[in-house]
Amino acid sequence: KGFFTFDPGFVSTAACESKITFIDGAKGVLLHRGYPIEQLAEQSDYLEVCYLLMYGDLPTTEQKAKFIATIKNHTMVHEQLRNFFNGFRRDAHPMAIMCGVVGALSAFYHDSLDISNEHHREIAAFRLISKMPTLAAMVYKYSIGQPFMYPRNDLSYGENFLHMMFGTPCEESNINPVLARAMDRIFLLHADHEQNASTSTVRLAGSSGANPFACIASGIAALWGPAHGGANEAVLNMLEEIGDEKHIDTFIARAKDKDDPFRLMGFGHRVYKNFDPRAKVMKQSCDEVLEELGLENDPLLKIAKRLEKIALEDEYFVKRKLYPNVDFYSGIILKAIGIPTEMFTVIFATGRTPGWIAHWHEMISGPYRIGRPRQLYTGSEKRDFVPVDKRK
Ligand code: CMC
Repeated sequence: KGFFTFDPGFVSTAACESKITFIDGAKGVLLHRGYPIEQLAEQSDYLEVCYLLMYGDLPTTEQKAKFIATIKNHTMVHEQLRNFFNGFRRDAHPMAIMCGVVGALSAFYHDSLDISNEHHREIAAFRLISKMPTLAAMVYKYSIGQPFMYPRNDLSYGENFLHMMFGTPCEESNINPVLARAMDRIFLLHADHEQNASTSTVRLAGSSGANPFACIASGIAALWGPAHGGANEAVLNMLEEIGDEKHIDTFIARAKDKDDPFRLMGFGHRVYKNFDPRAKVMKQSCDEVLEELGLENDPLLKIAKRLEKIALEDEYFVKRKLYPNVDFYSGIILKAIGIPTEMFTVIFATGRTPGWIAHWHEMISGPYRIGRPRQLYTGSEKRDFVPVDKRK
């Protein structure tokens, strides 16, 4: 005992060096490759941010056009992968299917899985960014028994996603530009967040030399939990459980009660102890979408607004610096767009894909060692084996 630094939850241990994302939690600062998230959300778009995360700089006009064309070139999935879906129950959780189908992508590209080859790494990145929305929409279509929709490469990333989610082969998709922009912004605001649980998982899996599709599947698995990406789904479930404004006080009391495991979902963050800069921009989008859809008076959204107000004023939350986080608002937007709650974390996973890839690529391109945390052993002392008939 005592040989290692004991840091459960990695609160004060840096596991790597990285040039991708900077966070100052106390000041509410989030920079991708040096650019503030607010400026990216307001002036850039998701695919440009994907390029930025991958290559380290914003693209020129030509680079951007080429990158978008390449991403569009890879939007379809292998026809054989469609059969894979039939092996799942229709009521399976979409994240369960995503863990499977994204991992399964490695089975289709075994001729370009040499991770020491720069070109192979790049093409895996393109494929993942391109195919995630296609797979995400396929998961949804499978759950409701509708035909899978092929991607449309004449549409933007956000528009195409809404087309594959809500379109049918029977009629032309009618895509609302305000909702498509909000989708793009949701993807953008989730694009990276340095060494969070899922990204650290991707790096750890990647450090063993596993292929990128397998590594991203491990990130999806880590993201699924309610303390991480599952929070946006948990927010909506919580709002539904509260059900009526008159029950809010009971839930606030439960959140403060240390004997009750209940937490107010969508509040608090491990790193941001002032405010979550992503939440500020997401709130703007939230207001825009609700206004566009005329949903300002939706009962669930009214509960959300009351909760937000209470948490910003109540001493318990203020003292512990528990502010609404990005998932609080993204959950509300997705609900308003008509995306079912079980799909929320899948959308987070889609948005986070370039971040996972950028971190994986950064690690693989530099000197790295297999990740291997140590432990403080607290089990039994050495003891002798007792044959089964002599055990008490
Ligand atoms: N509701 C009520 N109390 C809370 C909450 C909450 N949501 N979050 C933290 N606390 C309390 C906690 O009980 C503790 O109180 P005390 O000091 O009296 O014991 C104090 O605040 C500090 O909490 P912690 O658990 O030490 O904080 P953490 O940094 O380990 O956890 C968190 C961060 C995000 C897991 C946590 O705040 C939480 O569970 N929030 C709800 C889930 C959520 O919204 N997660 C999404 C995070 S943002 C998206 C992402 O990056 O994935």
